[in-house]
Amino acid sequence: MKKTITVHLKERKYDILVSQSTNDFFSVIKKQIKTKSLFIITDTNIAKLHLKYLINLFKRQNYDVKTAAISAGEEGKSIKNLSYLYDKALEKGIDRKSCAIAFGGGVIGDTAGFFAATYMRGIDFIQIPTTLLAMADSSVGGKTAINITKSKNIAGAFYQPKLVWINTNFLNSLPERQLRNGLAEIIKYAFIFDSKFYKYLANLLENEIISSKDFDYMICKSCSYKTKVVEKDEKETNGLRAVINFGHTYAHALETATHYKKFLHGEAVAIGMLFSAKLSLKLKLCKQETYNKVKKLLNLAAFNLDEKNNPKQFLSLMKKDKKSVDGNINFVLIKDIGKTINKQVSDNIVLNVLRSK
Ligand SMILES: NC(=O)c1ccc[n+]([C@@H]2O[C@H](COP(=O)([O-])OP(=O)(O)OC[C@H]3O[C@@H](n4cnc5c(N)ncnc54)[C@H](O)[C@@H]3O)[C@@H](O)[C@H]2O)c1
Repeated sequence: MKKTITVHLKERKYDILVSQSTNDFFSVIKKQIKTKSLFIITDTNIAKLHLKYLINLFKRQNYDVKTAAISAGEEGKSIKNLSYLYDKALEKGIDRKSCAIAFGGGVIGDTAGFFAATYMRGIDFIQIPTTLLAMADSSVGGKTAINITKSKNIAGAFYQPKLVWINTNFLNSLPERQLRNGLAEIIKYAFIFDSKFYKYLANLLENEIISSKDFDYMICKSCSYKTKVVEKDEKETNGLRAVINFGHTYAHALETATHYKKFLHGEAVAIGMLFSAKLSLKLKLCKQETYNKVKKLLNLAAFNLDEKNNPKQFLSLMKKDKKSVDGNINFVLIKDIGKTINKQVSDNIVLNVLRSK
């Protein structure tokens, strides 16, 4: 399959190409970037699995390819690795006309994106995501960042790629837990925007087998919704982009409380979306039926939703979240499948729902 989604921004536009065909990719990349000098940034896991393949692909098209691999996992988003990338790039003769390639999951997309935003005051970069989470969500939208000490995404920039190439063949080597992790963000788009997509996902997950065609479809749907939001609020200035943070306020508290060790981001988001639905029910914004539907889809995707929290600690962590205003926590809440609203919720109600979990 081949599908192109174009992201239209104020100053420029770029394509998200969803295709397993390398010919499709090269016909687009040749139009988008003029340089033959590439700097592929990946992590040590992906380097073992897929880097040779990608290098050969580019070399056959006469590109000059340099590479660097950083440590895999969330720890990879570090200032130490960023500094390593600057050193490697300089050493290998990467200049301001070269193009960086972020080849990996969200960790690589965020780190390599921030590298590209800052190296020699900004060089072009392309996203080639290899996890479901990165394909369906993080490779689109231009948010790049690294973590500093204990704070996540503290140093970063909005910096859009020149092109995103999504090739779902890379998912063949992705562990099941990581697939489920990405599924959470896909499910999120159904909850926020699309009751038909919800039905499609419920059907798919009931049947258990997910084909490559299904992955293409789910990824295209998610990228299209993310694109629409990013086009309206590229730099999160008018509040419209906040809608895609459904479930994230609780998820961030959960990730912090468990030191980013116990849950993958998508797993925390799944639990966070159920919390938001519970809060919505408590505030009578949605019916019991909607809450049940949220829970049903998350169960069908086999998320473990039973997790204990310390209500006071979670309230305080959520208040520290970037999205809290004047000490009140701003939540994205659900009215129905496909309909959400932003609302500030008082501490008492939040505590009440935290205690009833
Ligand atoms: N920029 C954004 O808009 C945005 C949005 C959501 C999440 N994020 C960020 O994304 C990160 C999480 O991304 P992630 O879930 O992709 O994790 P990740 O990048 O750490 O990848 C998960 C694991 O899968 C391995 N892996 C990657 N591709 C593989 C493949 N094809 N086969 C086998 N193994 C493979 C990686 O080496 C890693 O061990 C977080 O840091 C989060 O903050 C960013």
